[in-house]
Amino acid sequence: MRTPVIAANWKMYKTPTEAESFLTAFLPLVREQTKSEIVLCPPAIDLTFVLAGVQAGSVRVGAQNMHFAEEGAYTGEISAAMLTALGVTHVILGHSERRQYFAETDETVHRKLITALKHRLTPIVCIGERLEEREGGETEEVLTRQIGVAIGGIDPAQLAPMIVAYEPVWAIGTGKTATPEMAADAHRLIRGEVARLAGKSVAERLRILYGGSVKPENAATLLGQPEIDGALVGGASLDPQSFAKIVGAA
Ligand code: 13P
Repeated sequence: MRTPVIAANWKMYKTPTEAESFLTAFLPLVREQTKSEIVLCPPAIDLTFVLAGVQAGSVRVGAQNMHFAEEGAYTGEISAAMLTALGVTHVILGHSERRQYFAETDETVHRKLITALKHRLTPIVCIGERLEEREGGETEEVLTRQIGVAIGGIDPAQLAPMIVAYEPVWAIGTGKTATPEMAADAHRLIRGEVARLAGKSVAERLRILYGGSVKPENAATLLGQPEIDGALVGGASLDPQSFAKIVGAA
């Protein structure tokens, strides 16, 4: 059995003070739950505050991005070693917003994945097709390429901690969700491709999360699919009650 992961991607929302208020309301709501791994991915500036807030509890903290280089003259960037030094355990890589607005490519995601694994960060690798790709019947090709380039050439033994998030771009922040069947189909395809490239045991243990307009109202149906091992939640993770409901649905 794969332990579900419910991850919050706060994107560019919440100041440190707002992050602390979130924790004050959220942590008591999930104190009893032991069924899922909860990961909060706040903006980089909030990481220290969120780490201090979650302290000894079971909630983990992830970054939304990092650079693939160990260190260097890369103004504005953050390294894997900086994240682990703080106590960060997870990192989102290749989110579609980074691909769309910040020139992230399959190749940079691959390089970041190598660095994250080397530093024992749990990578949450995001892949997903755009609307025109789905409508053009290219979903399979896009997902196969994105996962293939991301993990290509990496020793399968190293890939064990990796998490993948399937986030169809057309479902992000739009209120449109993939149907549970659509998501399950995509997840099966991704798992099959990971099995082909990295072997069956890596694929069987791989947690594949769904992301794209996950809300308290649709979480139970999506998470009820055996192929869906959790959720990466944007908008609905900003509110403590709504995110706690999604955790409760897993
Ligand atoms: P929404 O839940 O706001 O659609 O965002 C999904 C997402 O991009 C999570 O990474």
